[in-house]
Formats: sequence, structure tokens, C-alpha cells
Amino acid sequence: MRQKIAKILRSTGLIFIADLLRYRYMLLKNRKKNEAFCREHPGIAFPEPYMIYETFRLDYQRYYEKGKEGAEWVRDEASPFINLKDRDILDWGCGPGRVVRHLPEVINNGCRFYGSDYNAAYIKWCSENIPGVSFSKNELKPPLVYESRKFDLIYVISIFTHLSEQSHVEWFEELMRVLKPGGILMLTSHGNVTKANLTPQEIQQYDRGELVERANVKEGHRMYTAYHPEAYMHKLFANKASVLKHKPGTKQSWGFEQDLWILKKLAV
Ligand SMILES: C[S@@+](CC[C@H](N)C(=O)[O-])C[C@H]1O[C@@H](n2cnc3c(N)ncnc32)[C@H](O)[C@@H]1O
Repeated sequence: MRQKIAKILRSTGLIFIADLLRYRYMLLKNRKKNEAFCREHPGIAFPEPYMIYETFRLDYQRYYEKGKEGAEWVRDEASPFINLKDRDILDWGCGPGRVVRHLPEVINNGCRFYGSDYNAAYIKWCSENIPGVSFSKNELKPPLVYESRKFDLIYVISIFTHLSEQSHVEWFEELMRVLKPGGILMLTSHGNVTKANLTPQEIQQYDRGELVERANVKEGHRMYTAYHPEAYMHKLFANKASVLKHKPGTKQSWGFEQDLWILKKLAV
């Protein structure tokens, strides 16, 4: 039923209004808790509520604490495959800095940190409020501003989940361009566990190994969603990177976790 309503809202273009109403509701619902958390942490810079809503959940405490856990997760997942000392590390699709803001503290081994996003407001806020990280804006389509073979590690949290099929191909190539040969790319996707969100028709498409796109809204926006069968991901990576790890997402108390892919760029 939920999927049917979402489909109607999407096809009639009303999904943005529904999303805006949801934002207003979350703003009211969490207002006291959010105000209290900000008051209790006067030394921490917080982005405006819509930025947090659009990229995560409208809960300042979770934005901050889960962001730190996210930075530790990047460090812990990457460490078996790369020595995180004196490295160039990029957060592509950094949003309002939820994860990357913690990296200078979490990985303090002479590494250099970078963040890029297509949303100008996020990049402005991050540049003005997050020390120790260099930020740049990219467009919806490649390229990034960086030179080829710059980065040792790139992580991409919940970005391919909002892109069209054409952008998957173009952005994967672009990430490979700026990654050093032998460099590590971590990315998340909507894997098997998220099939529970799909309609029967979409499940058939998914099971054929095809990317499922929920378009009808502006690409890159949180309401634009893509679902990633494993076979599709392997085809995307083929001849460019080898898969070091694939950790399928599981059902959590808060919803469906995304799959994690850790790749190594082939040295060609
Ligand atoms: C779900 S949010 C995740 C933000 C951040 N990675 C995090 O984990 O908090 C998706 C992010 O992808 C960004 N995004 C979408 N399309 C993009 C593109 N083509 N290039 C760069 N960023 C993009 C959005 O602006 C948004 O910040």
C-alpha cells in the first residue's frame, strides 16, 4: 500500500510536497530534543535543519554521534586494506559534513581530507564550519575538480543510491580517474535486503540483475532512488576494480542497512 501511494505521488509530481510536509512534521516532532542538544553543545557548529533532514535524519544528536561512528567505520573497514598514514582521502557526496568532519580526529596520521558534493549550500556551510578538511563543489555530472590519481582512499556513502544508470557509469569512471592505481574505493548501495521496498514488478527487474530506478524527481535528490542487484554492481566494476569485500546490508531497528562494497582499483 505504502509503495502504491509513493508511486502515485511520484508520477503526479506531488512527492516533493509530501516530502516537504514530512520535513515540517519532523521539525516540530524533534524540535525540543534538537534545541536541547544544540544548547548543551555550544562549541559544535550545526548545519540548518533542512540540510540534516535531506541527507540523514532530522536529529542533531544522531547527525553528530552517528557521523562520528561513521568516521570510525570508514577507518575500521578501510584499515585491513590500506595503511592510513600520510594519505589523501576523499568523501564524495559529503553532504553537510556528517562523517568527514570527524576524520581529522579519528584518523590523525598525517592524512589530508577532502569533501565534494553537488549541493552548493552544503559545500559553503562545510567550508565555513569544518576545519582540517578541503571542500569543493562538483556538478550533478562529472568531473571532480581533482587531478587524476590523487586519492589513496575514496568513500561514497549513499550517493549511488540517488543516481540514474547513466550517472552510475559516468561517476564510477570518474572516481576511478581520481583514485591512484591500487587505491581503495568504499561505496554503499541498496542491496537485497532493500528489495522489501520494491513493487512486484520492480522485484522482477531487480532479479534480472537490472538497476531499479525510482525517477520522476530531480536526480541526486533524496527522493530519487536506485536499487542495486549484485550482478549489476559486478558489471559496473568489471575491468576497473577488484572486489575486496562485499558486506550485504541487514534489517536494523531503524530500517534497512545499505550494502558495503570495498574495491581496489586495478593497476592498469
Ligand atoms: C543521503 S545523502 C548522504 C550524505 C553523506 N554521504 C552522509 O552519509 O551523511 C546524499 C548526498 O549525495 C549528494 N549527491 C547527490 N548527487 C550527487 C552528485 N552527482 N555529486 C555529488 N554529490 C551528490 C547530495 O547532495 C547529498 O549530500
